[in-house]
Order: sequence, then C-alpha cells, then structure tokens
Amino acid sequence: MKILVTAGPTREPIDPVRFITNRSTGKMGYAIAEEAERRGHDVLLISGPTAVPTPKVRMLQITTAADMLEAVTREIVWADALVMAAAVADFRPVQSSAEKIKKADGLASLQLEPTTDILSSIRAVKGRRIYVGFAAESRNIQQEAERKLISKGLDMVVANDITRDDAGFESETNAVILITSGRSPCELPLMSKTQVALHIVEWLEEAGKGRE
Ligand code: CTP
Repeated sequence: MKILVTAGPTREPIDPVRFITNRSTGKMGYAIAEEAERRGHDVLLISGPTAVPTPKVRMLQITTAADMLEAVTREIVWADALVMAAAVADFRPVQSSAEKIKKADGLASLQLEPTTDILSSIRAVKGRRIYVGFAAESRNIQQEAERKLISKGLDMVVANDITRDDAGFESETNAVILITSGRSPCELPLMSKTQVALHIVEWLEEAGKGRE
C-alpha cells in the first residue's frame, strides 16, 4: 500500500525567536512509518520539528499547521491510506512579527485564530482512501474519539489517554483504544509504540484488502 503518515508537533511563530507548540515528540508517527516500511509498504512521512532520530523512510519536513495542510493536500492523491499521527496546532497567533518582540516593548496578550482542520478539509477528496486519525484526550476518551470518527469522516481513530505518564506524549509506551465504525472498540494493553504501530499497520492491511 501507499501510506502517508504525519508525525510530530507543528510550530506557530510569534516572532523569529518564539513559537507556540505542543508536547508531541513524533515517536508514535515515526514508529508507524518505520513499521509500514518494514512490512514492505511505500511510505511517505510528513513531519513537524522533532528531536528524536528520524526513521529511514521518505520524509518531508514542515514547520507550521499551514505547511502541514499544504503538504498533505498535495500528497494525499498519491496515497491509499493516511495516518494523521501529527499533533497539529489548533490555534496560531493572528500576527507573527517579522522582528523580535523586545522585552521592553512588552506583550500583554497574544491573539490567536484557529488553524484549518486538515482531516476535515481533505474529506472532499476522500475517494476509496483509508483515513486514520488520532484522538488525544484527557477525559471521556471513548466518546470523544467516537465523535471525531464521525465528525472527521474517519475509518479508524486511535484514542490516547494523555493523562497517563506511561502513554501518549513523551512516552516510549502507549495504551490506546482502536475505534472503528461498525466494530466494537479494541482496547490494547500498555505496549511499546512499535507494537502499537504494528497493530495499526496490520489493521490498515486488512482494511486495504476490503477495498481492492
Ligand atoms: N488534526 C488535523 N488538523 C488539525 C488538528 C488536528 O487534521 N488542525 C487531526 C490530528 O492529526 C488527529 C485528529 O485530528 O489525527 C484529532 O486531533 P485532536 O487534537 O485529538 O482533536 P481536535 O480536532 O483538535 O479536537 P479537540 O480539540 O476537540 O480535542
């Protein structure tokens, strides 16, 4: 299969020195890209800035949510499946200063505006492609993930409890619930992100067979 994977955070600039970002390390998305490549799939990874070693797969590096939207919109036509593991910023500063904002000038508040939701916006080109999203949740995990499955028109949502220390952001391990339409949720025990990635890639392979 041709699998497009997104990973990592995005950075939304305030000025040339400062930005807004989130706790994503990129590890979950990198594990999916690596596992998919290892199993013989054709992989393209689109990644935000990370500090972890990058996998040996074809990769595009982006910075902002707008860059990520542009890259996914361009590359999606190539793919049989999209796995959006990236933690795309939901908000960005309305204005980004070209010059460094000097301390003496002060910055009493920061006005933010929403970014475009990539998964929702590319539904127009949905076709027979398989769409997998992630849901980072601190409460009502299953309900919230089911809401995103429907509202974003996805085939599967990988739901994460971000309040656990041993799962989600900045962790080597993950505990997720795989939520698909028409099947009961599959709760996986705590395991390495590589093992979670294998479950996701195997699910993609099964889903792909159904669409041949
Ligand atoms: N996502 C996206 N475009 C955005 C933000 C998120 O495509 N601008 C994708 C993420 O990559 C992920 C999924 O949407 O696969 C869910 O992201 P999440 O942050 O959990 O949800 P939100 O849509 O931000 O919703 P909420 O703030 O209500 O949790």
